[in-house]
Amino acid sequence: MKKLVFATNNSHKLEEVRALLREAGPEIEERFEILSLADIGCDVDIPETGMTFYDNALQKAEYVKVHYNLDCFADDSGLEVRALGMEPGVRSARYADDAGFTHNSDANMDKLLRNMTNIKERQAQFRAVIVLLMDGKRLEFEGVCRGEITRERSGSKGFGYDPVFVPEGHTVTFAEMAMEDKNVISHRGKAVRQLVKYLSTLE
Ligand code: IMP
Repeated sequence: MKKLVFATNNSHKLEEVRALLREAGPEIEERFEILSLADIGCDVDIPETGMTFYDNALQKAEYVKVHYNLDCFADDSGLEVRALGMEPGVRSARYADDAGFTHNSDANMDKLLRNMTNIKERQAQFRAVIVLLMDGKRLEFEGVCRGEITRERSGSKGFGYDPVFVPEGHTVTFAEMAMEDKNVISHRGKAVRQLVKYLSTLE
């Protein structure tokens, strides 16, 4: 079985990715073991200082490659709100902290809803970029999920901005959907399915 590190300690992301691998079928699931940062004994909050999702994903993947010499992939993702000039973007996790250190989803959602109080145009999208460093190669996969920002929170599943995001063609927020249903349409689901498709082509 080939070990592949997913450079994250976000248990929601890890579960989403493992579920997508299971969904891809036993041939794939039995060939790859997905390890988290905790599984390889890495408890560092890897710096994300890039200007783009790609830069940050690459930074996280390279950290694992350099310090642990293991094949790995990393994702960076965030919410882009059209009326806010595509903010919070790469700053999504730390949006409410001007100094940029702490991640607090409640404070982030409060700030977002506050900043959008008088805004009628609610279009937004989640974007996820995955960088895979494997067998000496570097590959990139990307997924986007369009939707709208609600006026108040709804639902308790998921993480981050899920309670304030209704995906296009739906009437409930990500936080009111089962993980499997979110995975079908989510930005990370789309990017991970491309990654899994690539893995399934390998000998
Ligand atoms: P990172 O990709 O872990 O650096 O963080 C991205 C941030 O974007 C998260 O902390 C969330 O605030 C937000 N985000 C990314 N993907 C999702 C999602 O699927 N649901 C809700 N929020 C998300």
